[in-house]
Amino acid sequence: MDKLQRTNLYKQAKEWVLEAGQRIRETIDDPRTIQTKSNANDLVTEMDQETEQFFAGMIRKLYPDHHVFGEEGFGDEITSLEGTVWIIDPIDGTMNFVHQKRNFAISVGIYEDGVGEIGLIYNVMEDTIYTAVRGEGAYKNHHRLAQLPEEKQLKQAIFALNTTWMLPENPFISHKGVHELVKTLRSTRTYGSAALEFAFVAEGIIDGYLTMTLMPWDIAAGMVILKEVGGTVTTADGQDIDMLHQTTILACHPKLHSDVIGEFVDLKQ
Ligand code: IPD
Ligand code: CA
Ligand code: CA
Ligand code: CA
Repeated sequence: MDKLQRTNLYKQAKEWVLEAGQRIRETIDDPRTIQTKSNANDLVTEMDQETEQFFAGMIRKLYPDHHVFGEEGFGDEITSLEGTVWIIDPIDGTMNFVHQKRNFAISVGIYEDGVGEIGLIYNVMEDTIYTAVRGEGAYKNHHRLAQLPEEKQLKQAIFALNTTWMLPENPFISHKGVHELVKTLRSTRTYGSAALEFAFVAEGIIDGYLTMTLMPWDIAAGMVILKEVGGTVTTADGQDIDMLHQTTILACHPKLHSDVIGEFVDLKQ
């Protein structure tokens, strides 16, 4: 994909993201059809499904050779990232969407042969969009995001963490490691939308995000955006991300990254 193709694709994707977001905003108080998926707290609404259908329909019409990899199953069976793949989470933070009517995002990452080219994360109710085109910096609306600062220490850092794996019975990480990390950090936050958590790290309003069970659509856009400001994203034990399967995530300032991996992450295997 050359620069002009990337720019045109970015403009089109942004137009669709804003359009989809506007529709969600306009109907935010409508009654919802809420179903559950893998468990009683894994929610999906007709709006998650309609939004993904909107993207899949538009992409197939305008870019028939592109592939769609979405959470709600209206895309293609994706077994490789060859070609141009739109990795879409139509509503990231469905529980917030249902319970709070805010703090959720549309997340769209566009990858070519496995390389993240474009990322868009739309905080719908705030009408704030985080965007990046590979090599051209990251933006919050029209404001270019600064590179992450040179220096950063864990004792002055705020991390987004999920409360679930702070429980001793979590299957992923030693309780002691998390406990020590929380004691070392200045504080923690849990926003309930992985995409927004990535965007907030890129914006520099939190310094890291450590979580255990994300899917490609939760992180595809955030990876592109965070990379543009110098952030580091790996699995919780420092490996490259597999963009086809569930993964653990440590997304943060490069300096904090090695401290967290070295001192606190003790994965249960
Ligand atoms: C979820 C959110 C949440 C994260 C979960 C995701 P969804 O996405 O990003 O913050 O903790 O792991 O599944 O289901 O609301 O799109
Ligand atoms: Ca979901
Ligand atoms: Ca999600
Ligand atoms: Ca979702």
